[in-house]
Parts: sequence; structure tokens; C-alpha cells
Amino acid sequence: MKAVRFHAYGDAGVLRHEDAPLPVPNDGDVLIKVHAAGVNPADVQFRRGDYQAFAPLPLPFIPGWDVAGAIVANAGGFKADERVFAMADMGRHGAYAEYIAVRATDVAHAPARLPLEHAAGVPLAALTAWSALFDIAQLQAGQSVLVHAGAGGVGQFAIQLARRAGARVIATASAANHELLRRLGADVVIDYRNADFAAGLANLDMVLDTVGGQTRERSWPVLRSGGILVAVAMPPPDAAVAQSYGVRTAMTTVLPNGERLTEIARLIDSGELDVTIDSEFTLAQAAEAHRRIEQGHARGKIILRIAASTHEEAP
Ligand SMILES: NC(=O)c1ccc[n+]([C@@H]2O[C@H](COP(=O)([O-])OP(=O)(O)OC[C@H]3O[C@@H](n4cnc5c(N)ncnc54)[C@H](OP(=O)(O)O)[C@@H]3O)[C@@H](O)[C@H]2O)c1
Repeated sequence: MKAVRFHAYGDAGVLRHEDAPLPVPNDGDVLIKVHAAGVNPADVQFRRGDYQAFAPLPLPFIPGWDVAGAIVANAGGFKADERVFAMADMGRHGAYAEYIAVRATDVAHAPARLPLEHAAGVPLAALTAWSALFDIAQLQAGQSVLVHAGAGGVGQFAIQLARRAGARVIATASAANHELLRRLGADVVIDYRNADFAAGLANLDMVLDTVGGQTRERSWPVLRSGGILVAVAMPPPDAAVAQSYGVRTAMTTVLPNGERLTEIARLIDSGELDVTIDSEFTLAQAAEAHRRIEQGHARGKIILRIAASTHEEAP
């Protein structure tokens, strides 16, 4: 099959569009014909070798853990040709390929309302936002949350999910993305480039830190006593710093979850959740897609189109 692999860690230039062996499904896997793969910052971080010390990859490696496609043969409760999407296991070969084997329990039926190219942009980012907001922070109706990078992959889902849960949402982005943030449900939008986002903010219940660095450091004081900063950006936050502000902190580690994706697909089909697509590339243009996400200003999700797919293929 055709795939994009890297044989050594490095910059986007290490990505090679080439022939690779077909994946061999393990017990409990389904084989998916990939229509589209979502591109995430993690794809770049693993390609660069950021995690090679504690999570070495089998090289040559196929990156990409967001997939939408069609089931190849009946397995794991799925039937041939069913439209599915998944966040795949990060230790295994990914979705920048014509086929991928994924644990059946990590897979869900794709939202009927979306073309598979758009469905591929959902799993990892939506699962991350869900986990940070509800598993970790246990965000409740009537609480307030500051979502950094509201126009990014994780941020767009966080705004919608928090708003749907009845929280008051404050989100940051550059001015060009403010209309998008409002449409997603942000109550307050802040241009982080031209203003100190922290000025005027206080007593918030939660900060979703998708940026790290100075943005994280300047976020602590906006929390109420006992509030929580949940980081998705590396490195994990410093518990001693949180304690000095009288707040809590935790790091999100997104995990595959087919059952939750089924719920996410339901929300998409009922019109309660949407995905914004930044750009689409072909599989052979994977390096270009990586350069785009590395700039740090994608407006929504970046997609690799792999097999011809049309929305009309949906049953
Ligand atoms: N721990 C986990 O399990 C986990 C899971 C998913 C993601 N992550 C990490 O979370 C981070 C975000 O991921 P993502 O997929 O959302 O990234 P992304 O889609 O690449 O984020 C791009 C967005 O970031 C915004 N942005 C850049 N700098 C900003 C700043 N200083 N303040 C506010 N917004 C800023 C940009 O908005 P403008 O163009 O308006 O500037 C752009 O819309 C990454 O580091 C990723 O690795 C971790």
C-alpha cells in the first residue's frame, strides 16, 4: 500500500511517500480503508523525536492517529463498508496510509452528517477536550472556563462542549478568528496578541492550557481559589506553582475511546457539535501539512485526503 513514513526522526523533510507493508490486524482489531487522516501537533512532536527516550517508535514509522474510513471486512462488531472514525493507539503505525489496523473498541461509526474528510479531524482533539473539561476538571453548568487557542483543534471542541455543558466560556485567539469563536459559543473573546488576556479576568473555575510557556504562567492568577488549570500542552504543569496560587493543576493524556466517540458522533449528528477544517492536503503532501501545523496558526483541523471519498458513500 502507499503510506507516508519516516525512517529517522527529524524535520518535515523526513516524511516519505512510499510503499509500505499492509498492516496485519491483531485479535480484536478491525482493518480500515483510510479515506482521510487528521493531522495533530503530536504527529510533528513524534516525528521530531521529542518522545523517543520514553516512547520509541518502530522505524520506519507511519504517523497519524486520527482516521476516518471504511471497514474492510466484518470484525469486532463492525460490518464491511461501514463508515467509521477513530483515534488509534499511539504506539502503533498510524493513519497516513491506505489501510490501518485499529482496536475495535477504539472505533465508532462516523457521524452521518460529515464527509469522512471532516470526520477525520474530530477524534483526537474532541477526546482531548472532553477529557480535560469533564474527566479532569468536572466542569459544571454555571462555572467559567478560559480556553486558550480557541481556534485550534482542541480549543474549538472545548468551546462547544463547555458551552453545551452550561459553562461561561472565555476564549483567546487572534482577532481574525474571533467571529469563529463566537459562532462556536464563546461568551467572551480575547485577542491575545494585542492585549494582556489576563487583564480583567479573575475567579475563573478552570483554565484549559493548550499553549504552555508564558501563557500558562500568566494564567494562574485568573483562577479562583481551588480552581484548576488543566494542561494539554507540554510540559506537565508544576504542582508547586499551582499550590503557591492556591489552585489545582493536572495534565491531560488523551486516550483512544470508541464509546465516547459514539457519543461525540451523536452530538455532531444532532447539530450540537461541529468541526472546523483549516485545510486539506493529499497523502503525498504530508510534509506540507506538517509545515502548516508547525506554524501554530491552523484555524481548526488539517486533513490528509487518502482514498477518494464522497459523502454520498454514506448508507
Ligand atoms: N496532552 C494531550 O493528550 C494532548 C492532546 C491534544 C493536543 N495536545 C497539545 O495541545 C496543544 C494544542 O493542540 P491543538 O491541536 O489544539 O493545536 P493547533 O490546532 O495546532 O492550535 C493552533 C491554534 O493555536 C492558536 N494559538 C497559537 N498561539 C496562541 C497563543 N499564544 N494564545 C492563544 N492561541 C494561540 C492559533 O490561533 P491564532 O492563529 O488565532 O493565533 C491556532 O488557531 C499542542 O501542544 C498539542 O500537542 C495535547
